[in-house]
Amino acid sequence: MITGKRLHGVLSDPARRFCAERGLLAERHCAAAARLLDQKLWPALTALEAPIPPETIYAQKRNYEELLPKTVRVKTAYLERRREHGFRVAEDLGLVAMLRSESFVAFCTALAGRPLRKRHGIQALCYGAGDYAGPHTDHHPEEPLARDGYVDVHLTLCTPGVAQQWLVYARRGHFSEVVDVTQQGIVTGYRLPFWHYTTPLVVQRAHARRWVLLGTFLFADAP
Ligand SMILES: [Fe+2]
Repeated sequence: MITGKRLHGVLSDPARRFCAERGLLAERHCAAAARLLDQKLWPALTALEAPIPPETIYAQKRNYEELLPKTVRVKTAYLERRREHGFRVAEDLGLVAMLRSESFVAFCTALAGRPLRKRHGIQALCYGAGDYAGPHTDHHPEEPLARDGYVDVHLTLCTPGVAQQWLVYARRGHFSEVVDVTQQGIVTGYRLPFWHYTTPLVVQRAHARRWVLLGTFLFADAP
């Protein structure tokens, strides 16, 4: 990984909540890693599914007062649950070691531009055809260390045949910003919370998948 000067502290800019950078990870290695995850980790994934609750329509009493909770359909490996099959597979593959590595933490610290707490969260997500995440904020006001904000860093690895997926996010109160997140090896950084959603994955080939390797970091100087 490269930590170009241009990226240092990119997420500490108050005007910037999100960054997306290409060219930091070698595409060839990303493609090989996606292939390996498909072969080994995919069978061990857990479905993460929260559909639209029907009562958001039938129990609505007033016009224009619909409320949509976070909806999602994706597969995941919870890499902090040591007893889960997905964790053991990820550990065997070296994925846990990679996401826990000093270099990954150093890279994410550079993006954040602020010291990060030692123990960070790690997870793998896998989007297949039609998988998505509806509008949500990732705000955790009940957690004292997270309620004033935290940082997520996602590494994207795609298998052949992934055609389209967008990350849409809000700026100045509107969902006006759109980023293509299917570029091989794209690194995306989030200074949460803010409104965003991920559109359904479009594929040109059956079983094409977008893998996301994810680190979640609290600020060391959080109040
Ligand atoms: Fe999110």
